[in-house]
Amino acid sequence: MTTNIIVTGGAGFIGNKLCEELLKNPNNRVICLDNNSTGREDNIEALKSNPRFTFIYHNVKDIFAIDQKFTRFITWHALHLRHNTNEIA
Ligand SMILES: NC(=O)c1ccc[n+]([C@@H]2O[C@H](COP(=O)([O-])OP(=O)(O)OC[C@H]3O[C@@H](n4cnc5c(N)ncnc54)[C@H](O)[C@@H]3O)[C@@H](O)[C@H]2O)c1
Repeated sequence: MTTNIIVTGGAGFIGNKLCEELLKNPNNRVICLDNNSTGREDNIEALKSNPRFTFIYHNVKDIFAIDQKFTRFITWHALHLRHNTNEIA
């Protein structure tokens, strides 16, 4: 069974490593949300060729837009990545 996983901050220093690890499981599909405020798309360049990986430029503060973008996914798990959540951009 496929598991859809959203990784917020997935283009960040820690987030891109988590995306990479999650994709080692062939049952996982990873959706990386990032607004590139401190992360870089370079960090996830190698993952973009994986059909189970999707990058979406998105500010996670915009919760209503998240809902609209992900209605096509039946289930998903959100993993928020930032060592200090008080500093979210
Ligand atoms: N080369 C290195 O050793 C190195 C490099 C970078 C960071 N670090 C360390 O790593 C730690 C930080 O890593 P991290 O992964 O927690 O931070 P990070 O800044 O690398 O990752 C956070 C991610 O969250 C994203 N983000 C922030 N606000 C967002 C929002 N509103 N919507 C969507 N995305 C948003 C950022 O764009 C970024 O990609 C620190 O301790 C730092 O010193 C080390």
